[in-house]
Amino acid sequence: MKTCYIKTLGCQMNVHDSERIAGILENEGYRMVENRDDADLVVINTCSVREKADQKFFSELGRLRKAKEARPDMKIAVAGCIAKQQGSAILSRFPYVDMVFGPQNLAQLPDILKISSRKTVVRVEDDPEYHLSTVPARRAGGVRAWVNIMYGCDNFCSYCIVPYTRGREKSRPPQEVIAEIRGLAAEGYSEVVLLGQNVNSYGKGLADKTDFPQLLHLAHEIDSIKRIRFATSHPKDMSPGLMEAFRDLPKLCKHIHLPVQAGSNRVLERMNRRYTADDYIEKTMRLREMVPDIAITTDMIVGFPGEEREDFEATVALVRTVEYDGIFGFKYSKRPHTRASGFEDQVSEEEKSDRLNNLLTLQDEICGRKNRALVGTAQEVLVEGRGDDGAGRWTGRTSTNRIVNFDSDADNAGRLIPVIITEGFQHSLTGRAA
Ligand code: 5AD
Ligand code: SF4
Repeated sequence: MKTCYIKTLGCQMNVHDSERIAGILENEGYRMVENRDDADLVVINTCSVREKADQKFFSELGRLRKAKEARPDMKIAVAGCIAKQQGSAILSRFPYVDMVFGPQNLAQLPDILKISSRKTVVRVEDDPEYHLSTVPARRAGGVRAWVNIMYGCDNFCSYCIVPYTRGREKSRPPQEVIAEIRGLAAEGYSEVVLLGQNVNSYGKGLADKTDFPQLLHLAHEIDSIKRIRFATSHPKDMSPGLMEAFRDLPKLCKHIHLPVQAGSNRVLERMNRRYTADDYIEKTMRLREMVPDIAITTDMIVGFPGEEREDFEATVALVRTVEYDGIFGFKYSKRPHTRASGFEDQVSEEEKSDRLNNLLTLQDEICGRKNRALVGTAQEVLVEGRGDDGAGRWTGRTSTNRIVNFDSDADNAGRLIPVIITEGFQHSLTGRAA
């Protein structure tokens, strides 16, 4: 039996694409292995959202070149966003690579494998029908499964390479999404995470006009699914219907990842985000009025070209107002094709690091305070299994996506149980099963 190793870089979308790559390869007779040196085929599923991710790819490729020198019949495939962006240039720069395929070309993988037994192959063209293809997935197991509901992005934020690597926005038909979730429920998954770059615009272009809140209602009817999450939402498209879904659907987790990116209107405009800081704050306030305990998290970019000290102060002010439950902070990184890559007045690396540190220190304070306020409360936790903290405790998440490590005499993996919180830290909670 042929063996395969998959290295995944980047976001949840890529993690799930790798599950699909694994699903196809298993159908083609491959067995997954844990070590790249034992594999007949190595796939690197790449990310290009920031320059750092490019560098990770180059170092992984360096390791693979050595592995291939030791085992010349090893095949190397480059998949994902860098594959899409650079195409055949990868083969000319790295002649030991055998296959290059983009995120929209996974359904063609059986064909790509056949060709690659004779010669190198590149498949990175846009496929407008990819969202209609059913590609098997080999999921990691556990309590949580990811489900694509849409592909691509039409927003063209001026810093972002995703619309160029993942193509135009396309929604999967709701019947297909629901059938997949039913299958996952039957396999024993308790939680599904619906994935798209911009789930709030789900349904655009679909014949039956199902929108995202309607899709959530359909998923909610599936009996043995206990929790539904989703990522990611664009603030400009967050509708009253979505807020009502949070209020009305008990299985919909009380957490929204709502990336604001910056707090200065001047920067938001140059980013092409199409909302102001006030629009955003107003939406979060309305949401919290309707769903008081909802957790809101965000992505933030510091050091966007032209970001002055007072723009950054506006970001800090917004963070103090919204009081996030978590922030993923990034230093602006110049990406090819994007509009912002042509902007002058780049911010120095030193200034970017300084701003990022300030932001994350502030957020740590907020998270610590919010988590300590939960001490003494009972939180409903979906148990994932034994944690890896060395203390043999169990681990799971609250509906608001907080990690809880707790003591328990019983194995409740896959179940929702109440846990009394005994300590709150910046990035997790500790407790005991009630
Ligand atoms: N530089 C820094 N961060 C970026 N992101 C996207 N493009 C860039 C870039 N060029 C961040 C955004 C987005 C997250 C997935 O990655 O914050 O929400
Ligand atoms: Fe990139 Fe903006 Fe699309 Fe998100 S919404 S993937 S940041 S272009």
